[in-house]
Amino acid sequence: MDDRFNTAAGWVLFAGIVGLGLSAVSSRYFATHAPEEGGYPIEGAVEEGGAEEVLDYGALLAAADAAAGEAAAVARCGTCHTFNQGGANGQGPNLYGMMGKPIGEGIPGFTFSDALASHGGSWSYENMFAWLESPRGFAPGTKMSFAGLSSPEDRANIIRFMYENGGGPPLPEPLPEEASEGEEAATDAAADAEVENTGEAGTPEADAPAAGADQTNPVGE
Ligand code: HEC
Repeated sequence: MDDRFNTAAGWVLFAGIVGLGLSAVSSRYFATHAPEEGGYPIEGAVEEGGAEEVLDYGALLAAADAAAGEAAAVARCGTCHTFNQGGANGQGPNLYGMMGKPIGEGIPGFTFSDALASHGGSWSYENMFAWLESPRGFAPGTKMSFAGLSSPEDRANIIRFMYENGGGPPLPEPLPEEASEGEEAATDAAADAEVENTGEAGTPEADAPAAGADQTNPVGE
């Protein structure tokens, strides 16, 4: 009787272990499944963030309205800045011909903050878009107490006016959307060509992975 009881107890124990094993396995499946579903919204969010980061300066400046920019510059910047050639420095420096100039230097009689004077670089279109969006974000500690202009179009109008008011580097080209699609197509074509080449050159090699895949499928199932 003891032997039978032990045998029966053994089977019960065994069944329990198998059951635990199965639940562990199934919980793994559920565990891996949930993050996969969660991944899609995150991917979407990343794409949205990326799209916001890429400003097409060329397209914005090409579509910009310099007259509207001048009016905005007088209204938004005019309390501190003059824009005419040889204009006086006010709370901020005269801004004639500012595009392309070194950042935070070269305005006779104006004392820049260390934050801007030590920034380095020049007033490229990219830098000016960033500065006018958030002066404190661009040069933490700047003494230009101006919150910034969140609208890229407003900034483009003012920058277009600044470019026409004393010149600057050539306006950037709009991002070539069609051309980049063409490049992708060309890359695809090149990839196809490579596949064809390896197929012709190494037919036995191409067969080997296929055979391997056939073998792994039954094991996987
Ligand atoms: C409240 C006053 C004020 C307003 C408004 C203001 N600025 Fe300024 N701006 C300053 C001051 C002060 C500086 C010097 C900043 C420093 O040294 O940190 C400055 C510096 C600058 C510079 C850097 C110049 C250089 O030689 O590097 C640019 C460009 C500029 N401002 C553009 C603008 C534009 C465009 C506007 C309007 C959209 C504007 N600012 C509005 C006060 C102002």
